[in-house]
Amino acid sequence: MDSSICVIGLGYIGLPTALLFAASGKIVHGFDVSQDKIKLLKAGKLPFAEPGLRELYIKAKKNGSFIPSNTIASTDCYIIAVPTPQTNHAADLTYVLQALQSLIPFIRKSTLIVLESTISPSDCDSHIIPFLEKYGKFNVALAHCPERAIPGNTIHEMQYNSRVVGGKTSEVAERVKRLYLSFVKADIHTTNLITAAACKVMENTYRDVNIALANEFAKIADDLKFNVWEAITLANLHPRVNIHQPGPGVGGHCIAVDPWYFVGESKQARLITKARGINDDMPEYVAHHVSKIAKKYHLSSPIIGVLGYAYKKNVDDARETPIEPLLKILEKKYSCIVHDPYVDFKSRQSIELEQLLNKSQVIVLTTNHDIYKNIDFRNYPNIIAIYDLRNAVRNSQVNKTFTALYKLGDGRL
Ligand SMILES: NC(=O)c1ccc[n+]([C@@H]2O[C@H](COP(=O)([O-])OP(=O)(O)OC[C@H]3O[C@@H](n4cnc5c(N)ncnc54)[C@H](O)[C@@H]3O)[C@@H](O)[C@H]2O)c1
Repeated sequence: MDSSICVIGLGYIGLPTALLFAASGKIVHGFDVSQDKIKLLKAGKLPFAEPGLRELYIKAKKNGSFIPSNTIASTDCYIIAVPTPQTNHAADLTYVLQALQSLIPFIRKSTLIVLESTISPSDCDSHIIPFLEKYGKFNVALAHCPERAIPGNTIHEMQYNSRVVGGKTSEVAERVKRLYLSFVKADIHTTNLITAAACKVMENTYRDVNIALANEFAKIADDLKFNVWEAITLANLHPRVNIHQPGPGVGGHCIAVDPWYFVGESKQARLITKARGINDDMPEYVAHHVSKIAKKYHLSSPIIGVLGYAYKKNVDDARETPIEPLLKILEKKYSCIVHDPYVDFKSRQSIELEQLLNKSQVIVLTTNHDIYKNIDFRNYPNIIAIYDLRNAVRNSQVNKTFTALYKLGDGRL
């Protein structure tokens, strides 16, 4: 059973999942509504970069075990990994329901449908099961296996992270567990549909709330004049403390989005709402401190060089990046130029690193890509000040005679 699979949605999650199943010996059909994506894949190209993805793709191509297509194949099992953007504090199920609709003609008695997309906790019971029942599909083996892999380490984490599988029945959950054990090398825990969804949302909420706490500590440090980075390092020496790192806000497809699903479904989510607000306000806070720097050095119209646009280091993922709202605020007052070695800029102009360093009076280091560790700021006396939001710039990189180095939450602004 379940020797052939069709993965619906070949994005950051669906494509690696499809290729891992293909590498484990399954025949995997990949269906995507995007003609461009399928054309690219058929031509042997990948739509995005991810360590290890190319190797998996080459292997699958050689074996003929991965078949990308714009049409759905008839298989034992469907895995859905389509987007679930957040609207009005709920997961927007438009793409999920479209995917399910297109599966209706293929659903037989034994068909397994695994939803990997992130959803609000009650969505399976409140929307997805009723949707299937509307089409007379009462006995579908429905499961929710929320994906928790991180961009930049997706292939490793998909195999080595433990998984939670929620099933409509415990038999369905066990079937999904057997299926995923074909490539997952960690524990797979089975539960019901709502608990699996809540678990995923709780994990990301935990991260968001803790980042908000770190951001609040950074603001308090600026207020009370101590260095938050040193204080966090020292506090984390306590065996039961693990304070996260502050920064320009929270980005990505999960942490900045998923906490809203609790807010949308429960009035009890008060701390979560507050934390979202604190993180979303960080670009405003950072922009205010950039203005303080400009004022301090009498820079009436400085060029602000922004280093990094991705929401985290060493990845090309700029979805929900807090750097975009930060730039929008800064651009009301200043000329801004931005560099990111990974991001494929669509709506913005990026600039070569060397050019940015030569032109800027103020540098804001927003993303701690490893490549920025090699910058020798001593070669650019035009740079009056650096505002490091990630505690990434070392003193040895800067000649303090020409360039002042400030950090978010260092208590000096
Ligand atoms: N990217 C991550 O790091 C990550 C991590 C964990 C969970 N998730 C969740 O996984 C889900 C997928 O995210 P992603 O990052 O892979 O999205 P993505 O945007 O990279 O890819 C989604 C793909 O689905 C396709 N698609 C849309 N509607 C379709 C339909 N009806 N039929 C077939 N294909 C369709 C799109 O063309 C696109 O190629 C989301 O719910 C997301 O929240 C993402």
